[in-house]
Amino acid sequence: MAGGRRMGRHGASMATEKPKNFKSTMKKLLSYLKKYKYKILLVVLFAIASTVFTIVGPKILGKATTKIFEGVIGKISGSTSGIDFLYVGKIAVTMVLLYLVASLFTYIQSFIMTGVSNNVTYRFRKDISLKLNKLPIKYFDKQTHGEVLSRITNDVDTISQNLTQVLSQIVTSVTTLIGTLVMMISISIPMTLVSLLILPVSVLFIMVVVKFSQRYFRSQQEYLGHINGHVEEMYSGHTVVKVFNKENESVKTFNELNDILYSSAWKSQYFSGLMQPIMAFIGNLGYVAVCILGGYLAINGKIEVGNIQAFTQYLRNFTQPITQLANISNVLQQTAAASERVFEFLDEEEEKEVFDNLMEFNEEKTTGRITFENVDFGYNPDKIIIKNFSADIKPGQKVAIVGPTGAGKTTIVKLLMRFYDINSGSIKIDGG
Ligand SMILES: Nc1ncnc2c1ncn2[C@@H]1O[C@H](COP(=O)(O)OP(=O)(O)OP(=O)(O)O)[C@@H](O)[C@H]1O
Ligand SMILES: [Mg+2]
Repeated sequence: MAGGRRMGRHGASMATEKPKNFKSTMKKLLSYLKKYKYKILLVVLFAIASTVFTIVGPKILGKATTKIFEGVIGKISGSTSGIDFLYVGKIAVTMVLLYLVASLFTYIQSFIMTGVSNNVTYRFRKDISLKLNKLPIKYFDKQTHGEVLSRITNDVDTISQNLTQVLSQIVTSVTTLIGTLVMMISISIPMTLVSLLILPVSVLFIMVVVKFSQRYFRSQQEYLGHINGHVEEMYSGHTVVKVFNKENESVKTFNELNDILYSSAWKSQYFSGLMQPIMAFIGNLGYVAVCILGGYLAINGKIEVGNIQAFTQYLRNFTQPITQLANISNVLQQTAAASERVFEFLDEEEEKEVFDNLMEFNEEKTTGRITFENVDFGYNPDKIIIKNFSADIKPGQKVAIVGPTGAGKTTIVKLLMRFYDINSGSIKIDGG
């Protein structure tokens, strides 16, 4: 999980621009989650419980190490008969039970959370689908189909996947961080202080990496989108490209986009890939310091050998949540960006439903007399394209609409179908 982000399933999926308003979007998302607050509380509790169970593990294991160490030393010096295997065995059984319970808790927690996030996704899709039927045709004139589709599929997907991940990870990371720190302090304060020295170094390093890689991740997703768009357009318009001899130009554009994508992709992967090895290196420096100090303390009889082993294990657990939290901030930004796009869509202005002058359409009775009376219409209110148009078409009469391109012929037919509402005047069928 070293900052490596999943690629979208459909290529240009992840909404990577920063959300415009992180706070209010998160608030809205939370209001969607409100319905599941008890389940989420359960998830948090189980996550904490499972983490706590995992955290006490090394300390108990340390006791076994101490016992074995004492047994060996005792045998050498001849004071005891050897290792107390009964005691070691008991600890082994305890450990097995401990880890079993911890995994059971993890299992329950992910089970509940997956349910919640899928319910939210289900509601999002349902709301979007209902919304689609309420939007005026005008909306689809402005928005490409791909864009609308992308909100239904990719953005909702992103939210769903991240929700499952984020909540339990935040809880687990914070609990691990605090719990591990408490255990470390309980073992040895000087050793804890030494290991805390690595903290500022790691935090600084993570911040630098995140800053660099985020920029490239963003441009990677952006150009992935451009390439997708380009390829889609060139394939669907293949014949047009051929007719106008634009093959070379199309290939050239593709190559340019692809080059930029390549460069940002490898940089983002490189920077995020750096995170783990360098964190491991910093962590190892910490081990060396801790082991030297631990050895010294053990010789002076101030610490048990098993506790040194437990301590190094805790130290290993300590750096992990820090990296994870850095990652979560990324994922949160991404979730907010995706949610924002979905909410934006859901908040679009809907078509007004008019019920007052509905007329019944009956194939047998309707004669088909069409009357336009002083119709004014513009796709854009500032730009009226049909001005004061009147016509009376009798049942069965055939009428040709003639005019130069852009005159508004198709528009008249669209108005008749009521794809758009007219600005003033009236259109009547059978005078109704
Ligand atoms: N969805 C739309 N949004 C905004 N303006 C539009 C839209 N559709 C058409 N227009 C504009 O309205 C005007 C009339 O367009 P319309 O398609 O009705 O013309 P037409 O007479 O059918 O032309 P043609 O002979 O080319 O089919 C044009 O200026 C066009 O640019
Ligand atoms: Mg037309």
